[in-house]
Amino acid sequence: MEMDRVRKQVLMTLSSGRKSFWELINGVDASIFELVKCLDALLSAGVVKLKNGTFELARPGVFFAEVRCKYCKGTGTSIKGFEDVYKKYCELVKGRPLPVIGSGYKYEYDQGIIFEDDVIRRVAFMHARGDLNSSEIIVMGDDDLISIAIAATGLAKRILVLEIDERIVDFINKVAVAEGFPLEAIKYDVREKIPEGVRGGFDVFVTDPIETVVGFELFLSRCAEALKPNGAGYFGLTRVELPLSRWQLFEKFLLDMNFVITDILRDFSSYAHGIENPLEGIKDILSTYDRKHLEFFEKMRIEQQIIKVGPKEPWYKSSFFRVELVGEARPKHTGRVPGDIYVEV
Ligand SMILES: C[S@@+](CC[C@H](N)C(=O)[O-])C[C@H]1O[C@@H](n2cnc3c(N)ncnc32)[C@H](O)[C@@H]1O
Repeated sequence: MEMDRVRKQVLMTLSSGRKSFWELINGVDASIFELVKCLDALLSAGVVKLKNGTFELARPGVFFAEVRCKYCKGTGTSIKGFEDVYKKYCELVKGRPLPVIGSGYKYEYDQGIIFEDDVIRRVAFMHARGDLNSSEIIVMGDDDLISIAIAATGLAKRILVLEIDERIVDFINKVAVAEGFPLEAIKYDVREKIPEGVRGGFDVFVTDPIETVVGFELFLSRCAEALKPNGAGYFGLTRVELPLSRWQLFEKFLLDMNFVITDILRDFSSYAHGIENPLEGIKDILSTYDRKHLEFFEKMRIEQQIIKVGPKEPWYKSSFFRVELVGEARPKHTGRVPGDIYVEV
């Protein structure tokens, strides 16, 4: 059933004209692997053709109109009132540490950064929910440097960043000292117990979890443990990486930890690496959850074709979740959890 929906979405997207692979990703509600499987079937059946790097319908289809608002990138959130914060943030993050590709197609520590205006959009939305003013905020992993954007609003009481990458820890601490921000970063690996004094100390958390089962559970458990009763939290989650069954698993896990999901903002944040290294991005995703996914893609032999027309717009996006505790948190993991958390076992 789900594949039938993806098929319809592909055909609708192509009905307004030929599209690159990257435009198709933006047109469907599917993981990369589901899209690749669907395209394989449509190409084999001759319903869709791949010519000069773009996909097109063999015969004209049902007309489909773009419905997303252009002014807010379809997010429903304006950053107009945050222009000064935006400018200051862009100034402060100059010379920031950037994600690097490590072994295979993998980005070191699963890093990948959000565009600057999208970081401010997150901050604006958090403020509108009453989660910045006089709040104590914990950020679990911060390659986006949202802690600096939050600090630049001057609204939060205290911000603590826990982060594995020393380059990011040092960068944040340097900015914090230079600007006199109530902000501190500490080197921390999410597989370890949370540091002394963090438990139950924060009103709000922000994180972009690793999206493997153990990765997600650990990031969200540590964040839950750090919250005061009735605290709130924000995190990004992708559809390009995950099938809906995985979203369902994560949502159940959040409910079990005593959270309620108050908001899911669809495709709220866009990532730069999808544009700069699109094929590496695709292969990184396909190799994370099941090795057969990458093999399937490579067997299709469409890589050389789809790369002919590079992405003009971001295609790697995440939805922004807001959750709130109903009383006290019940974190699943509180102890040390060793092992690989970046690749699904
Ligand atoms: C997991 S990455 C995700 C990046 C990207 N913004 C996203 O949404 O896909 C977010 C942050 O967590 C950090 N991180 C990765 N592994 C970690 C670990 N084991 N412990 C603590 N932080 C970690 C990364 O360095 C990065 O700053």
